[in-house]
Amino acid sequence: RRTRVAIVGGGPAGLLLALLLYRAGIDCVVLERRSRDHVLSRIRAGVLEQGTVDLLRLAGVGARMDREGLVHEGFDIAWRGEMLHVDLRGLAGGKTVTVYGQTEVTRDLYDALDAAGVPIVHGAEDVQPQDLTTETPFVTFRTEDGERRLECDFVAGCDGFHGVCRQAIPADQIRIFERVYPFGWLGLLTRMPPVQDELIYAHHSRGFALCSLRSPLLSRYYVQCPVGDRVEDWSDERFYDELQARLPERAAAQLQRGPSIEKSIAPLRSFVAEPMRHGRLFLAGDAAHIVPPTGAKGLNLAVSDIHFLSQALIAHFKEHEDGLLDAYSATALARVWKAERFSWWFTSMMHRFEDDGGFGQRIQEAEFDYLAGSRAAQTALAENYVGLPHL
Ligand code: FAD
Ligand code: DHB
Repeated sequence: RRTRVAIVGGGPAGLLLALLLYRAGIDCVVLERRSRDHVLSRIRAGVLEQGTVDLLRLAGVGARMDREGLVHEGFDIAWRGEMLHVDLRGLAGGKTVTVYGQTEVTRDLYDALDAAGVPIVHGAEDVQPQDLTTETPFVTFRTEDGERRLECDFVAGCDGFHGVCRQAIPADQIRIFERVYPFGWLGLLTRMPPVQDELIYAHHSRGFALCSLRSPLLSRYYVQCPVGDRVEDWSDERFYDELQARLPERAAAQLQRGPSIEKSIAPLRSFVAEPMRHGRLFLAGDAAHIVPPTGAKGLNLAVSDIHFLSQALIAHFKEHEDGLLDAYSATALARVWKAERFSWWFTSMMHRFEDDGGFGQRIQEAEFDYLAGSRAAQTALAENYVGLPHL
Protein backbone atom coordinates (compact mmCIF):
# COMPACT_ATOMS: atom_id res chain seq x y z
CA ARG A 1 0.00 0.00 0.00
CA ARG A 2 0.97 3.63 -0.44
CA THR A 3 0.62 6.85 1.54
CA ARG A 4 2.06 10.36 1.49
CA VAL A 5 3.74 10.36 4.90
CA ALA A 6 4.70 7.25 6.85
CA ILE A 7 4.84 8.26 10.51
CA VAL A 8 6.93 5.96 12.70
CA GLY A 9 5.90 6.25 16.37
CA GLY A 10 2.51 6.94 17.94
CA GLY A 11 3.62 9.16 20.83
CA PRO A 12 2.57 12.80 21.05
CA ALA A 13 4.83 13.85 18.15
CA GLY A 14 3.61 11.22 15.67
CA LEU A 15 -0.05 11.53 16.62
CA LEU A 16 -0.10 15.33 16.43
CA LEU A 17 1.63 15.27 13.05
CA ALA A 18 -0.93 12.76 11.78
CA LEU A 19 -3.80 14.95 12.93
CA LEU A 20 -2.38 18.17 11.43
CA LEU A 21 -1.74 16.41 8.09
CA TYR A 22 -5.24 14.93 8.11
CA ARG A 23 -6.74 18.38 8.72
CA ALA A 24 -4.80 19.62 5.68
CA GLY A 25 -6.08 16.74 3.55
CA ILE A 26 -2.75 14.87 3.39
CA ASP A 27 -2.73 11.06 3.70
CA CYS A 28 -0.60 9.40 6.34
CA VAL A 29 -0.27 6.16 8.28
CA VAL A 30 1.04 5.85 11.85
CA LEU A 31 3.15 2.78 12.73
CA GLU A 32 3.39 2.16 16.49
CA ARG A 33 5.27 -0.76 18.03
CA ARG A 34 3.28 -1.00 21.26
CA SER A 35 -0.41 -1.39 22.04
CA ARG A 36 -2.61 1.62 22.63
CA ASP A 37 -3.08 0.64 26.28
CA HIS A 38 0.65 0.54 26.76
CA VAL A 39 1.14 4.00 25.23
CA LEU A 40 -1.67 5.39 27.40
CA SER A 41 -0.30 3.87 30.60
CA ARG A 42 2.98 5.78 30.45
CA ILE A 43 3.11 8.63 32.95
CA ARG A 44 5.34 11.35 31.59
CA ALA A 45 5.25 15.09 31.13
CA GLY A 46 2.73 17.36 32.82
CA VAL A 47 3.34 21.01 31.91
CA LEU A 48 2.29 22.53 28.57
CA GLU A 49 3.68 25.79 27.21
CA GLN A 50 1.33 28.42 25.79
CA GLY A 51 2.48 27.58 22.24
CA THR A 52 1.73 23.89 22.82
CA VAL A 53 -1.76 24.71 24.09
CA ASP A 54 -2.35 26.97 21.07
CA LEU A 55 -1.25 24.28 18.60
CA LEU A 56 -3.38 21.58 20.26
CA ARG A 57 -6.40 23.90 20.01
CA LEU A 58 -5.61 24.59 16.36
CA ALA A 59 -5.48 20.85 15.72
CA GLY A 60 -8.98 20.57 17.21
CA VAL A 61 -8.01 18.75 20.41
CA GLY A 62 -8.31 21.65 22.85
CA ALA A 63 -11.78 21.10 24.31
CA ARG A 64 -11.02 18.76 27.21
CA MET A 65 -7.67 20.48 27.86
CA ASP A 66 -9.49 23.81 28.17
CA ARG A 67 -12.03 22.26 30.54
CA GLU A 68 -9.76 20.15 32.73
CA GLY A 69 -6.29 21.69 32.33
CA LEU A 70 -5.07 23.94 35.14
CA VAL A 71 -3.64 27.31 34.14
CA HIS A 72 -0.59 28.12 36.28
CA GLU A 73 0.48 31.73 36.54
CA GLY A 74 3.63 31.04 38.54
CA PHE A 75 5.69 28.52 40.51
CA ASP A 76 7.96 28.46 43.55
CA ILE A 77 11.64 27.77 43.93
CA ALA A 78 12.50 26.51 47.41
CA TRP A 79 16.14 27.06 48.28
CA ARG A 80 17.04 25.49 51.59
CA GLY A 81 14.96 27.66 53.94
CA GLU A 82 13.97 30.35 51.42
CA MET A 83 11.07 30.52 48.96
CA LEU A 84 11.14 32.50 45.73
CA HIS A 85 7.89 32.95 43.83
CA VAL A 86 8.31 33.23 40.06
CA ASP A 87 5.41 35.25 38.69
CA LEU A 88 5.24 33.83 35.18
CA ARG A 89 2.31 35.92 34.03
CA GLY A 90 3.76 39.19 35.30
CA LEU A 91 7.27 38.50 34.00
CA ALA A 92 6.45 36.87 30.67
CA GLY A 93 4.04 39.43 29.25
CA GLY A 94 0.84 37.67 30.32
CA LYS A 95 1.89 34.16 29.23
CA THR A 96 1.20 31.18 31.48
CA VAL A 97 1.56 27.38 31.39
CA THR A 98 -1.12 24.69 31.60
CA VAL A 99 -0.92 21.58 33.76
CA TYR A 100 -2.43 18.75 31.68
CA GLY A 101 -0.77 15.35 31.51
CA GLN A 102 0.90 13.88 28.44
CA THR A 103 -1.34 10.85 28.97
CA GLU A 104 -4.41 13.06 28.50
CA VAL A 105 -2.93 14.80 25.44
CA THR A 106 -2.24 11.39 23.90
CA ARG A 107 -5.75 10.14 24.69
CA ASP A 108 -7.31 13.24 23.08
CA LEU A 109 -5.16 12.77 19.98
CA TYR A 110 -6.15 9.09 19.66
CA ASP A 111 -9.82 10.01 20.00
CA ALA A 112 -9.57 12.69 17.29
CA LEU A 113 -7.65 10.38 14.94
CA ASP A 114 -10.21 7.60 15.46
CA ALA A 115 -13.03 10.01 14.65
CA ALA A 116 -11.16 11.11 11.52
CA GLY A 117 -10.43 7.53 10.46
CA VAL A 118 -6.65 8.04 10.23
CA PRO A 119 -4.98 4.60 10.14
CA ILE A 120 -2.84 3.73 13.15
CA VAL A 121 -1.13 0.33 13.07
CA HIS A 122 -0.41 -0.93 16.59
CA GLY A 123 1.95 -3.80 17.27
CA ALA A 124 4.12 -2.93 14.23
CA GLU A 125 7.31 -4.99 14.72
CA ASP A 126 10.69 -4.64 13.09
CA VAL A 127 9.92 -1.32 11.41
CA GLN A 128 12.62 -0.46 8.84
CA PRO A 129 12.68 2.79 6.86
CA GLN A 130 14.41 2.18 3.50
CA ASP A 131 15.66 3.92 0.35
CA LEU A 132 15.55 7.23 2.21
CA THR A 133 17.80 9.09 -0.20
CA THR A 134 15.70 8.16 -3.25
CA GLU A 135 12.41 9.66 -4.48
CA THR A 136 10.62 6.44 -3.53
CA PRO A 137 11.28 5.60 0.12
CA PHE A 138 9.30 2.86 1.87
CA VAL A 139 8.93 1.30 5.27
CA THR A 140 8.78 -2.43 5.93
CA PHE A 141 7.32 -3.91 9.13
CA ARG A 142 5.63 -6.98 10.51
CA THR A 143 2.20 -7.42 12.10
CA GLU A 144 0.04 -10.42 12.99
CA ASP A 145 -0.89 -10.47 9.29
CA GLY A 146 2.74 -10.96 8.25
CA GLU A 147 5.37 -8.86 6.45
CA ARG A 148 4.15 -5.54 5.11
CA ARG A 149 5.49 -2.73 3.01
CA LEU A 150 4.31 0.88 3.06
CA GLU A 151 5.41 3.11 0.17
CA CYS A 152 5.48 6.84 0.80
CA ASP A 153 6.86 10.23 -0.20
CA PHE A 154 8.32 10.99 3.23
CA VAL A 155 9.08 9.21 6.49
CA ALA A 156 8.53 11.09 9.77
CA GLY A 157 10.76 9.61 12.49
CA CYS A 158 8.69 10.23 15.64
CA ASP A 159 9.75 7.01 17.39
CA GLY A 160 11.38 8.43 20.50
CA PHE A 161 14.91 8.11 21.85
CA HIS A 162 15.16 4.33 21.45
CA GLY A 163 13.51 4.23 18.02
CA VAL A 164 14.87 2.95 14.70
CA CYS A 165 14.66 6.07 12.53
CA ARG A 166 17.73 7.87 13.91
CA GLN A 167 19.64 4.56 13.62
CA ALA A 168 18.71 4.42 9.93
CA ILE A 169 20.98 7.43 9.27
CA PRO A 170 24.55 6.38 8.37
CA ALA A 171 26.96 7.23 11.21
CA ASP A 172 29.06 9.52 9.05
CA GLN A 173 26.03 11.68 8.22
CA ILE A 174 24.87 12.45 11.72
CA ARG A 175 26.57 14.13 14.65
CA ILE A 176 25.63 13.47 18.26
CA PHE A 177 26.03 15.96 21.12
CA GLU A 178 25.45 14.49 24.54
CA ARG A 179 25.76 15.01 28.29
CA VAL A 180 24.76 12.37 30.80
CA TYR A 181 24.07 13.45 34.40
CA PRO A 182 25.17 11.33 37.36
CA PHE A 183 21.64 11.05 38.83
CA GLY A 184 18.04 10.26 37.95
CA TRP A 185 14.56 11.32 38.97
CA LEU A 186 12.42 8.94 40.97
CA GLY A 187 8.78 9.87 40.31
CA LEU A 188 5.65 8.90 42.23
CA LEU A 189 2.00 9.46 41.37
CA THR A 190 -0.66 9.34 44.09
CA ARG A 191 -4.38 10.06 44.44
CA MET A 192 -3.98 12.80 47.03
CA PRO A 193 -4.27 16.59 46.87
CA PRO A 194 -0.89 18.25 46.14
CA VAL A 195 1.04 20.14 48.84
CA GLN A 196 -0.03 23.38 47.15
CA ASP A 197 -1.73 24.59 43.95
CA GLU A 198 1.49 25.69 42.24
CA LEU A 199 4.63 23.66 41.53
CA ILE A 200 7.62 23.75 43.88
CA TYR A 201 11.13 23.12 42.53
CA ALA A 202 13.26 22.51 45.63
CA HIS A 203 17.04 22.66 45.97
CA HIS A 204 18.34 20.96 49.11
CA SER A 205 21.63 19.59 50.41
CA ARG A 206 20.04 16.08 50.23
CA GLY A 207 19.21 16.64 46.56
CA PHE A 208 16.56 18.13 44.29
CA ALA A 209 12.82 17.56 44.76
CA LEU A 210 9.77 18.61 42.74
CA CYS A 211 6.14 18.86 43.80
CA SER A 212 3.83 18.77 40.80
CA LEU A 213 0.32 17.57 40.09
CA ARG A 214 -2.01 16.30 37.41
CA SER A 215 -5.24 17.59 38.99
CA PRO A 216 -6.42 18.96 42.35
CA LEU A 217 -6.75 15.34 43.52
CA LEU A 218 -3.72 13.79 41.84
CA SER A 219 -0.15 14.60 42.91
CA ARG A 220 3.08 13.94 41.03
CA TYR A 221 6.29 14.11 43.07
CA TYR A 222 9.93 13.60 42.15
CA VAL A 223 13.19 13.26 44.10
CA GLN A 224 16.71 13.22 42.70
CA CYS A 225 18.27 9.76 43.24
CA PRO A 226 21.54 8.01 42.33
CA VAL A 227 21.48 6.64 38.75
CA GLY A 228 22.11 3.11 39.95
CA ASP A 229 19.04 2.94 42.24
CA ARG A 230 16.19 0.57 41.43
CA VAL A 231 12.52 1.32 42.06
CA GLU A 232 12.41 -1.73 44.38
CA ASP A 233 14.88 0.08 46.67
CA TRP A 234 12.28 2.77 47.28
CA SER A 235 9.22 1.92 49.35
CA ASP A 236 6.52 4.60 49.33
CA GLU A 237 7.46 5.44 52.93
CA ARG A 238 11.11 5.93 52.04
CA PHE A 239 10.12 8.14 49.11
CA TYR A 240 7.86 10.36 51.22
CA ASP A 241 10.43 10.62 54.02
CA GLU A 242 13.02 11.80 51.52
CA LEU A 243 10.64 14.21 49.80
CA GLN A 244 9.53 15.68 53.13
CA ALA A 245 13.13 16.19 54.25
CA ARG A 246 13.88 18.21 51.12
CA LEU A 247 10.87 20.54 51.33
CA PRO A 248 10.55 23.79 53.28
CA GLU A 249 8.56 23.34 56.51
CA ARG A 250 5.36 24.95 55.29
CA ALA A 251 5.14 22.60 52.29
CA ALA A 252 6.33 19.55 54.21
CA ALA A 253 3.51 20.08 56.70
CA GLN A 254 0.96 19.87 53.85
CA LEU A 255 2.28 16.61 52.41
CA GLN A 256 -0.43 13.92 52.31
CA ARG A 257 1.01 10.46 51.81
CA GLY A 258 -1.08 8.16 49.66
CA PRO A 259 -0.22 4.80 48.10
CA SER A 260 1.72 5.16 44.83
CA ILE A 261 -0.22 4.37 41.66
CA GLU A 262 2.96 4.68 39.60
CA LYS A 263 6.62 4.85 40.57
CA SER A 264 9.55 4.92 38.18
CA ILE A 265 13.11 6.18 37.70
CA ALA A 266 14.14 8.26 34.69
CA PRO A 267 17.81 8.93 33.94
CA LEU A 268 18.79 12.52 33.10
CA ARG A 269 20.37 13.27 29.77
CA SER A 270 20.97 16.08 27.30
CA PHE A 271 21.20 14.82 23.71
CA VAL A 272 20.95 16.34 20.23
CA ALA A 273 21.37 14.63 16.85
CA GLU A 274 22.21 16.88 13.90
CA PRO A 275 20.88 17.29 11.28
CA MET A 276 17.24 16.29 11.86
CA ARG A 277 16.90 15.21 8.22
CA HIS A 278 18.38 12.49 6.04
CA GLY A 279 17.05 12.53 2.49
CA ARG A 280 13.32 11.93 2.83
CA LEU A 281 13.47 11.06 6.52
CA PHE A 282 12.63 13.84 9.01
CA LEU A 283 13.22 13.32 12.74
CA ALA A 284 11.02 15.01 15.34
CA GLY A 285 10.73 14.93 19.13
CA ASP A 286 12.71 12.54 21.34
CA ALA A 287 13.96 10.69 18.24
CA ALA A 288 16.23 13.68 17.64
CA HIS A 289 16.80 15.18 21.07
CA ILE A 290 16.46 14.66 24.81
CA VAL A 291 16.47 17.28 27.56
CA PRO A 292 16.76 16.62 31.29
CA PRO A 293 13.25 17.05 32.74
CA THR A 294 13.91 20.13 34.90
CA GLY A 295 11.73 22.82 33.33
CA ALA A 296 9.42 20.38 31.50
CA LYS A 297 10.62 20.99 27.94
CA GLY A 298 10.60 17.46 26.43
CA LEU A 299 7.00 17.20 25.30
CA ASN A 300 6.84 20.87 24.38
CA LEU A 301 9.86 20.51 22.10
CA ALA A 302 8.29 17.51 20.38
CA VAL A 303 5.26 19.71 19.70
CA SER A 304 7.27 22.64 18.32
CA ASP A 305 9.16 20.27 15.98
CA ILE A 306 5.80 19.07 14.70
CA HIS A 307 4.67 22.65 14.22
CA PHE A 308 7.64 23.24 11.88
CA LEU A 309 7.43 19.85 10.17
CA SER A 310 3.69 19.97 9.54
CA GLN A 311 3.93 23.43 7.99
CA ALA A 312 6.80 22.27 5.78
CA LEU A 313 4.96 19.15 4.58
CA ILE A 314 1.78 21.12 3.96
CA ALA A 315 3.74 23.68 1.88
CA HIS A 316 5.24 20.80 -0.11
CA PHE A 317 1.96 19.07 -0.89
CA LYS A 318 -0.33 22.10 -1.21
CA GLU A 319 1.94 24.75 -2.74
CA HIS A 320 4.75 22.65 -4.26
CA GLU A 321 7.10 24.77 -2.21
CA ASP A 322 10.10 23.04 -0.57
CA GLY A 323 11.77 26.00 1.16
CA LEU A 324 10.36 25.07 4.57
CA LEU A 325 11.29 21.39 4.20
CA ASP A 326 14.85 22.35 3.28
CA ALA A 327 14.99 24.71 6.27
CA TYR A 328 13.31 22.26 8.71
CA SER A 329 16.41 20.92 10.41
CA ALA A 330 18.00 24.34 10.93
CA THR A 331 14.72 25.93 12.03
CA ALA A 332 13.91 23.18 14.53
CA LEU A 333 17.47 22.96 15.87
CA ALA A 334 17.64 26.71 16.58
CA ARG A 335 14.74 26.29 19.00
CA VAL A 336 15.91 22.89 20.27
CA TRP A 337 19.29 24.27 21.33
CA LYS A 338 17.70 27.10 23.29
CA ALA A 339 15.55 24.58 25.19
CA GLU A 340 18.66 22.40 25.69
CA ARG A 341 20.46 25.41 27.12
CA PHE A 342 17.60 26.27 29.46
CA SER A 343 17.08 22.69 30.68
CA TRP A 344 20.81 22.23 31.26
CA TRP A 345 20.97 25.54 33.17
CA PHE A 346 17.95 24.82 35.37
CA THR A 347 19.19 21.27 36.02
CA SER A 348 22.68 22.53 36.92
CA MET A 349 21.32 25.12 39.29
CA MET A 350 18.79 22.94 41.11
CA HIS A 351 20.47 19.54 41.66
CA ARG A 352 23.06 18.34 44.09
CA PHE A 353 26.30 17.41 42.35
CA GLU A 354 29.05 15.40 44.03
CA ASP A 355 31.57 18.07 44.69
CA ASP A 356 34.50 19.33 43.19
CA GLY A 357 35.83 21.19 46.27
CA GLY A 358 32.80 23.40 46.80
CA PHE A 359 33.21 25.67 43.77
CA GLY A 360 30.11 24.33 42.08
CA GLN A 361 28.01 24.80 45.21
CA ARG A 362 29.10 28.40 45.62
CA ILE A 363 28.19 29.06 41.98
CA GLN A 364 24.74 27.51 42.60
CA GLU A 365 24.24 29.72 45.65
CA ALA A 366 25.27 32.81 43.70
CA GLU A 367 22.93 31.77 40.90
CA PHE A 368 19.97 31.61 43.31
CA ASP A 369 20.95 34.85 45.04
CA TYR A 370 21.18 36.62 41.70
CA LEU A 371 17.82 35.22 40.58
CA ALA A 372 16.14 36.22 43.84
CA GLY A 373 17.43 39.79 43.57
CA SER A 374 17.15 40.48 39.87
CA ARG A 375 13.96 41.02 37.93
CA ALA A 376 16.01 40.69 34.73
CA ALA A 377 17.18 37.21 35.75
CA GLN A 378 13.64 36.18 36.71
CA THR A 379 12.35 37.50 33.39
CA ALA A 380 14.85 35.31 31.53
CA LEU A 381 13.73 32.28 33.54
CA ALA A 382 10.03 33.04 33.00
CA GLU A 383 10.43 33.69 29.27
CA ASN A 384 12.03 30.29 28.80
CA TYR A 385 9.68 28.45 31.16
CA VAL A 386 6.51 29.60 29.39
CA GLY A 387 8.22 28.70 26.10
CA LEU A 388 10.09 30.63 23.44
CA PRO A 389 8.04 31.55 20.36
CA HIS A 390 7.42 28.90 17.69
CA LEU A 391 8.13 31.67 15.08
P1 FAD B 1 7.66 9.25 22.64
O1 FAD B 1 6.62 9.76 23.55
O2 FAD B 1 8.78 8.46 23.20
O3 FAD B 1 6.92 8.40 21.53
C1 FAD B 1 7.62 7.56 20.63
C2 FAD B 1 6.69 6.43 20.23
O4 FAD B 1 7.36 5.62 19.25
C3 FAD B 1 6.36 5.51 21.39
O5 FAD B 1 4.96 5.34 21.46
C4 FAD B 1 7.09 4.22 21.08
O6 FAD B 1 6.40 3.08 21.55
C5 FAD B 1 7.16 4.27 19.56
N1 FAD B 1 8.29 3.51 19.01
C6 FAD B 1 9.54 3.39 19.50
N2 FAD B 1 10.30 2.63 18.73
C7 FAD B 1 9.49 2.25 17.70
C8 FAD B 1 9.71 1.43 16.56
N3 FAD B 1 10.89 0.86 16.33
N4 FAD B 1 8.69 1.24 15.70
C9 FAD B 1 7.49 1.83 15.92
N5 FAD B 1 7.23 2.61 16.99
C10 FAD B 1 8.22 2.82 17.86
N6 FAD B 1 9.01 15.46 29.67
C11 FAD B 1 8.60 16.46 30.41
O7 FAD B 1 8.48 17.56 29.86
N7 FAD B 1 8.28 16.27 31.73
C12 FAD B 1 8.37 15.05 32.32
O8 FAD B 1 8.07 14.89 33.49
C13 FAD B 1 8.82 13.97 31.59
N8 FAD B 1 8.95 12.75 32.13
C14 FAD B 1 9.41 11.73 31.36
C15 FAD B 1 9.56 10.46 31.91
C16 FAD B 1 10.03 9.40 31.13
C17 FAD B 1 10.20 8.03 31.75
C18 FAD B 1 10.36 9.62 29.76
C19 FAD B 1 10.88 8.49 28.91
C20 FAD B 1 10.21 10.89 29.23
C21 FAD B 1 9.74 11.95 30.00
N9 FAD B 1 9.56 13.22 29.47
C22 FAD B 1 9.13 14.23 30.24
C23 FAD B 1 9.84 13.53 28.11
C24 FAD B 1 8.57 13.51 27.26
O9 FAD B 1 7.72 12.50 27.74
C25 FAD B 1 9.01 13.27 25.85
O10 FAD B 1 9.82 14.37 25.46
C26 FAD B 1 7.85 13.08 24.88
O11 FAD B 1 7.19 11.88 25.15
C27 FAD B 1 8.36 13.07 23.44
O12 FAD B 1 7.36 12.65 22.57
P2 FAD B 1 7.72 11.81 21.28
O13 FAD B 1 6.42 11.59 20.61
O14 FAD B 1 8.82 12.48 20.56
O15 FAD B 1 8.34 10.45 21.82
C1 DHB C 1 6.58 17.76 35.76
C2 DHB C 1 7.75 17.35 35.21
C3 DHB C 1 8.78 18.27 35.05
O1 DHB C 1 9.92 17.89 34.49
C4 DHB C 1 8.63 19.58 35.42
O2 DHB C 1 9.66 20.43 35.25
C5 DHB C 1 7.45 19.98 35.96
C6 DHB C 1 6.42 19.06 36.14
C7 DHB C 1 5.49 16.78 35.96
O3 DHB C 1 5.65 15.60 35.60
O4 DHB C 1 4.45 17.17 36.48
